[in-house]
Amino acid sequence: MKFFLDTANLDEIRAGAAMGLVDGITTNPSLVAKEGKDFKTLVGQICEIITGPVSAEVVSTECNAMMKEARELTKIADNIIVKLPTIAEGVKACKICTEEGIRTNLTLIFQPLQALAVAKCGASFCSPFLGRLDDIGHDGMDLIADIRTIYDNYHFSTEILAASLRHPLHVVQAAKLGADVGTMPFKVFEMMLKHPLTDIGLEKFLADWGKMKS
Ligand code: G3P
Repeated sequence: MKFFLDTANLDEIRAGAAMGLVDGITTNPSLVAKEGKDFKTLVGQICEIITGPVSAEVVSTECNAMMKEARELTKIADNIIVKLPTIAEGVKACKICTEEGIRTNLTLIFQPLQALAVAKCGASFCSPFLGRLDDIGHDGMDLIADIRTIYDNYHFSTEILAASLRHPLHVVQAAKLGADVGTMPFKVFEMMLKHPLTDIGLEKFLADWGKMKS
């Protein structure tokens, strides 16, 4: 499973990159707005830190306007992935992007047929939002399982990018179900390596080592 960071914060991205575990970045308009910086400049800075896929989202809702944004975004860096909303106009734009060789991430996916449709249009990534389904009393992981089955049935190469992951267990479950990518906030990324028994065990090892007479 690839690990992506779901953030537009440069400090978090640098810290994650230093650990050597960040395969890519996802951003969305809310995450970018939080940083209060010029969008394209910020995305360019992210692409200088991370060489893997960096998703940058369009904010238009009509196909031609989306395509204009998509073509502009791809000028920022070679590793830009154009993020499009999974609405009819976004799916149309996805198809055109595929024909033009622009890689895409179709976002805000909440049901399996949306995932099937975007794969048929050649999306590079599909982003089911698990946490937001959990929030309304559905099991977000069922969606990952359904998409995995459908993509495997028809040999689609669209990668399943499990998004809206809120805690480490979400990452474990998505990995067990075969999601290709998990994108997570930095705080979840940090928690992935944590276990109290690791800390207690290390403390004891070092204490015992300190008692040893040389
Ligand atoms: O990757 C999608 C993510 O940014 C949404 O997460 O926690 O706002 O549902 P959340």
